[in-house]
Amino acid sequence: MKNKIKNHLKNNIFVLNYSRMWPFIKPYWIRALIATLITIPIGSLDAVIALSLKPFMDTIIMEKGGETPFNLPLYSIPLFIIFFTIIQSALEYTSAYLNTWVGGKITNSLKQKVYQKLVSCEASFADKNTSGFIVFRCDSDPTLACSGLINNLKVFTTRLFSSISLICVLFYTSWQLAIIAIIILSSALYPLTKIREKIKEVMNKTVLAGGAVLTVFNETFAGLKTIASYNLETQQTSKFSDILKQIFKLQIKYTQRTAWLSPMMHIIISFGIAGAIWYGSYLIKSNQITSGDFVSFMTALLMLYTPIKNIGKNFTSVQMSFMAIERVFDFLATKMSVTEKENAPHLQPLQNKIEYKSVSFSYNSEKTILNNINLTINKGEKIAFVGNSGGGKTTLINLLPRFYQITKGSILIDGQDIQNVSLRSLRNQIAIVFQDNFLFSGTIKENILLGKQDATEKEINQAIKSACLDDFIKTLPNGINTQIGERGVLLSGGQKQRVAIARAFLKNAPIVILDEATSALDNKSESIVQQAIDNLMYDRTVLVIAHRLSTIQNADKIIVINEGKIIEQGNHETLLNMNGAYHSLYMAQFKSKN
Ligand SMILES: Nc1ncnc2c1ncn2[C@@H]1O[C@H](COP(=O)(O)OP(=O)(O)OP(=O)(O)O)[C@@H](O)[C@H]1O
Ligand SMILES: [Mg+2]
Repeated sequence: MKNKIKNHLKNNIFVLNYSRMWPFIKPYWIRALIATLITIPIGSLDAVIALSLKPFMDTIIMEKGGETPFNLPLYSIPLFIIFFTIIQSALEYTSAYLNTWVGGKITNSLKQKVYQKLVSCEASFADKNTSGFIVFRCDSDPTLACSGLINNLKVFTTRLFSSISLICVLFYTSWQLAIIAIIILSSALYPLTKIREKIKEVMNKTVLAGGAVLTVFNETFAGLKTIASYNLETQQTSKFSDILKQIFKLQIKYTQRTAWLSPMMHIIISFGIAGAIWYGSYLIKSNQITSGDFVSFMTALLMLYTPIKNIGKNFTSVQMSFMAIERVFDFLATKMSVTEKENAPHLQPLQNKIEYKSVSFSYNSEKTILNNINLTINKGEKIAFVGNSGGGKTTLINLLPRFYQITKGSILIDGQDIQNVSLRSLRNQIAIVFQDNFLFSGTIKENILLGKQDATEKEINQAIKSACLDDFIKTLPNGINTQIGERGVLLSGGQKQRVAIARAFLKNAPIVILDEATSALDNKSESIVQQAIDNLMYDRTVLVIAHRLSTIQNADKIIVINEGKIIEQGNHETLLNMNGAYHSLYMAQFKSKN
């Protein structure tokens, strides 16, 4: 029996959601409790107003000489009503203030937690989700979960206590009438128990559609040039309008499933009121109750009517908050495949070699991208990867900093499996320059400093010089403190790459990964960037992907990857003499240049 109750409590949505939220509420629990407790007098004071009408009615109107409570003078009754209403209003203000305070604090700590989770998500998480969906999950859901929950809880408890106190008035004035009214009113609450199942599916679809709207905004903003160049304005607008139509349909569906609740309660309650009037008239006539009792009763019943009718709406909002809590906690519980063992040891700086041992990888179960890759990279070597587009070069190097989880095989650094060491120490050893480097909004300096937060001025200047950025920075009125815009939009392609290279310099990691760093540049920019890259590669272990074979002829080893397999490897001369894939690639580029 005890276990049954325990299980029931555990599965109870209300208990479950509040227990999940507890760690976030805990630091502010005293204020949260006060905010909730205040709702008790706020709700209960409704009863005072209803109750004070009885002596007023009996004494003044009916002149039956009924007694005022505590024999107070009659004029005190209207004063009491004003006095209690002032108290009620003051408490309402305090409660609103406390609720905003507590709600805001809890929302912030939940958002902080969600953001912490987001920044530690693996790359495949970004592959599977859209930006709009993420904004919805990380911003709208925690807001809905907390503020919605706290505000609704306040309204819910106020209404609940108001209802309880008014019900007491009903029983005090006439228990017979009260029983009729209660039976009818409680049947009005029954539909609430069904509401959750009815709105869950619609709510989940609404979240997806809401996410899709945000994604369209993001994409449109980022892709304005593409939209203009292909004249996609009409097409994009109609795509957007389709999503809006979908949301409209969902809103209508939601209304269909919930809006009947209040009118339905309205009708049921009217039966209660009709019944009370009918039976009340009989009780007055047969002198079982006074007219004062009846007026008090009817006032309490009518006052009860509003909270009970609104509890329907309120209950739906509470359910929506609960669903948001569930989505937030589902997100927080998302399992990542790139994980770290507990107390994983620190990876020591590369001493000897990096080994890929029978590495296979696929992004999803449909297609194997890398197939049984075996590769050794000795410390200080420069290894270049070439091959057909989509062959798996980027994928191969993305496995070294563990952006993705290897499907089969292992990667070892000095004999230590990278899966067994701490992610932080592994990634500390690797500086990466991607093809499309991500720059954050802010200044050039702020972006470079991401490589090493506590770098000295001397180190920064050295990095700028080595990345061949000094001449460019000298031309800027604000120099290194120039704002570069969101994603670095105010810089040219080559400048962005050099900022990224400067960042990698500052990191001063022993292993350097360069992915297509010189593509999409004109010859002049390429030679500057190439100079920066040569500087960066100096005295480090380097994995470089290049489409322009001219840039990698000096590499210690060139690996040719085709369809996820290593098909040739060796230095430039050896590979050319093999007359194979590398030879064909080289000849194709050589011809196109002449
Ligand atoms: N995040 C991803 N999710 C699913 N599939 C992916 C993902 N990234 C790449 N792929 C697929 O994996 C294959 C290898 O891609 P990869 O980017 O490694 O090729 P690549 O050799 O670097 O090509 P390129 O020279 O054009 O840059 C491609 O078929 C690509 O479609
Ligand atoms: Mg690539």
